[in-house]
Amino acid sequence: MPHIHIKAFKPVTLPAEQANVKFHFMAHNVLHSDEYLISTSVDEKEFFLLVKDTADNVLLKSEKISRPSPTYIVKRALNAYATLSESEILASNVDDTSKNIHLEKDESLWSIHDFAKGFPEAKDVRIEVGFGSGRHLIHQAKENPDILFIGIEIHKPSVEQALKQINILGLKNLILLDYDARLFLELVPSNIVSRIYVHFPVPWDKKPHRRVISTAFINESTRVLAPKGRLELRTDSENYFAYSWETFIGLNKARLEVNKNQEIAISSKYEDRWKKMEKNIYDITLINEEISEEIKSGGSFAFAKGLNRERLLELNGTTQKIEGGFIHFERLYDIDDTKMMARLSMGSFERPEHLYVIVSDEQSHYFPTEPVPSQVNFAVHKHLDEILHG
Ligand SMILES: C[S@@+](CC[C@H](N)C(=O)[O-])C[C@H]1O[C@@H](n2cnc3c(N)ncnc32)[C@H](O)[C@@H]1O
Repeated sequence: MPHIHIKAFKPVTLPAEQANVKFHFMAHNVLHSDEYLISTSVDEKEFFLLVKDTADNVLLKSEKISRPSPTYIVKRALNAYATLSESEILASNVDDTSKNIHLEKDESLWSIHDFAKGFPEAKDVRIEVGFGSGRHLIHQAKENPDILFIGIEIHKPSVEQALKQINILGLKNLILLDYDARLFLELVPSNIVSRIYVHFPVPWDKKPHRRVISTAFINESTRVLAPKGRLELRTDSENYFAYSWETFIGLNKARLEVNKNQEIAISSKYEDRWKKMEKNIYDITLINEEISEEIKSGGSFAFAKGLNRERLLELNGTTQKIEGGFIHFERLYDIDDTKMMARLSMGSFERPEHLYVIVSDEQSHYFPTEPVPSQVNFAVHKHLDEILHG
């Protein structure tokens, strides 16, 4: 990830602007005086730069939760801050800040909030979860120009690689999203998807809660699949196959197909590797036979006004549980006399979100964006508003 080591941190008066990068405010960690966040925006993308004092210099890099895509945005912001503050750069991996021409167009890269505002219209939709190199996804999109493909991947460099290929090939029927696929499905209308591909998911043998396949994921997949729609799991891991099979047959009702070493239209990078090693490849396919109910939507992420400093200090480091969800107050920052900011993980236990809330005498709000509009998040938000402002 892009970062710069500077000799000493030089705060500048904010707000300020340099080379079309805007810096809005600074937030200071109340417990760790060696850590600050600088609120930054480039081309309407809002995020934080993280400043960390180390023993012999100061590290400037992007903050993990709000980090934007593509990466050149972070590079531009780092260089702009270093120039603006006239910092002495000791080391940097921020070389070329020019935009790669194949990343100039990013309308194929949607954010989760774009989907929350309105799901794209299409006669037929297919979703690939964890597309990695994108070989299978791009092949399918090229072969089926009348079908809308949505590729979801949490690894940002893979998303950028796929975005470049989309722009080079001029594909109009492929949307990418860098987000957790398990959270995304909740925003998909019922009965509209004809295929969900989950090819070679990370087995997570030591952290099973991070696995893509779970009862909740299969139930959500079944809801979004049209009748005859298929959820296709392909794996080389016998352990993951056994775990998934148990999860699938634990459902009340399902039509399932199992195959071993079946060839498919295109072999992914991972698949090639396993084939060379002569590993077996297993497929489990669920074929949906039901029409599902439409999802309920609605709720609000609005806050009441008011900053209660003592209460925030008390809440820092604590976890508040409600039915089906929780809020963990991870870190607390001072902004100014009228504002503080808390870093939170919140939402459902199995699929939490990580974000900030700026608590203010004026109007409190989430940063950089609101949580995904799920039923659990609305319920957790209501509780958060009560404990912050009640
Ligand atoms: C082992 S790779 C397989 C990539 C590709 N499907 C292939 O066959 O070559 C698994 C991919 O899933 C992505 N991934 C893991 N968990 C995910 C999640 N919850 N949502 C979206 N992508 C995820 C990882 O970043 C990784 O790129």
